[in-house]
Amino acid sequence: MSFPPDFLWGTATSSYQVEGNNTNSDWYAWEAADPTRIKGDLGCGQACDWWNNAEADLDIAAELGNNAHRLSLEWSRIEPEPSVFDTEAIARYRAILQACHDRGLEPMVTLYHFSNPLWLVEKGDFSSEIVVDYFRRYVAKVVAELGDLVSKWITINEPITYGVMRYLTGEFPHGKRTGIGATFEAIHNMLRCHAAAYHIIKENRPEALVGTANNMQVFEARPGGNAIDRLWAGQIDRLYNNSWQDALHTGRYRGVIGSKHIKHLAGTFDFVGVNYYSRFYLHFPPPPGFVDREWGPDAIVSDGNYGEVYPRGLFDVINRVWKRYSKPIYVTENGVPDAVDRIRPGFLLSHLRQIWYAISFCYPVMGYYHWSLVDNFEWDRGWTQRFGLIKVDPITQERTWRPSAHLYREICQSYSINDDMAARYAPEMLEVMWPGKEPAHSEQAAR
Ligand code: FCB
Repeated sequence: MSFPPDFLWGTATSSYQVEGNNTNSDWYAWEAADPTRIKGDLGCGQACDWWNNAEADLDIAAELGNNAHRLSLEWSRIEPEPSVFDTEAIARYRAILQACHDRGLEPMVTLYHFSNPLWLVEKGDFSSEIVVDYFRRYVAKVVAELGDLVSKWITINEPITYGVMRYLTGEFPHGKRTGIGATFEAIHNMLRCHAAAYHIIKENRPEALVGTANNMQVFEARPGGNAIDRLWAGQIDRLYNNSWQDALHTGRYRGVIGSKHIKHLAGTFDFVGVNYYSRFYLHFPPPPGFVDREWGPDAIVSDGNYGEVYPRGLFDVINRVWKRYSKPIYVTENGVPDAVDRIRPGFLLSHLRQIWYAISFCYPVMGYYHWSLVDNFEWDRGWTQRFGLIKVDPITQERTWRPSAHLYREICQSYSINDDMAARYAPEMLEVMWPGKEPAHSEQAAR
């Protein structure tokens, strides 16, 4: 199963999760105030030490045969005090972006990935419209200083997830205000910020591509559920998976009741970024934690009951996104927490097969960024969930290649997935993906 010659093969990371010691971020203060907020016994700490040495891991990305990398900028480093821009921090980001180019990794840059400058929280952050002018100023600075090195921008990572986790469920550092009202106001303000950022980038760099990375999950009523469960699942699906991107498309955000027109928003995207992880079942009234965490007997479930592995869902969300918006699609995140690499090789093959399938329908899926290159600080779940192709010991900083890293290298180098790879890395996938086929060349077949 071959991929187009211009396909982008990458991995995705975010600044707070890999850089270490982001002392001006609200996450840092949140962790410090009460370490029990973070699962396990380790906080972010030095993370993967990227602030000092991102280059070492970018070397690994190049060794993997990648030609792209998605990373984010830490607003709290670039602007540690209101309108005080840190020239050293900007220079460090220039060096990291240049390091990507030097290694043949085309950077896709996220302007905002879940972390706020402390001063911004004081002023009210996304739950207050004041954020829009601050965001505009930050983005203008970034585009002026770094724009020559970036051809693809993500303005905001997973805005709906962020709104929910920060303002509603409270797993993430709280905003000054919380609750349903604050959540929807934050979403409106994120839309305004996105629109402002889109226009700034386009005015300065008309050739650059701009989009957002949307977390899209499959939400279904639990098996055997009733009509209310199905109605509920349908509403959640619309609010979670469609409402943000629909707003970018039409200029109008449709929440629970009514809708709101946002100025200068319609049409502000050149591509759709899809972050895809799992399928979830829902029922009404929702349980604590919102989604059911019981799976059928045949389900493959990742570490920590994180979610069900459901590759077909990736095709379904791509199909939906193409039919709704008809714009190029990047899979900007896809991965699985799996410390011992039990299911990741099969996960990689089966999800890439769905992308191949979509491409074979001529859907313009332009690239794939696996989450993640290295194990990193997984927000409220700390280091308890390991998403890396490369294992990281956060204390010694030692790196170890998981079998999946070797597999991903073969995939990226050959622009293909095949039965021989499955035979060697994920034999359980052979019968599923190539029914009836004997692997041609593998040692396993020879045996
Ligand atoms: C996504 C986030 C990313 C990481 C992965 C596992 O929702 O964008 O930062 O936490 O999940």
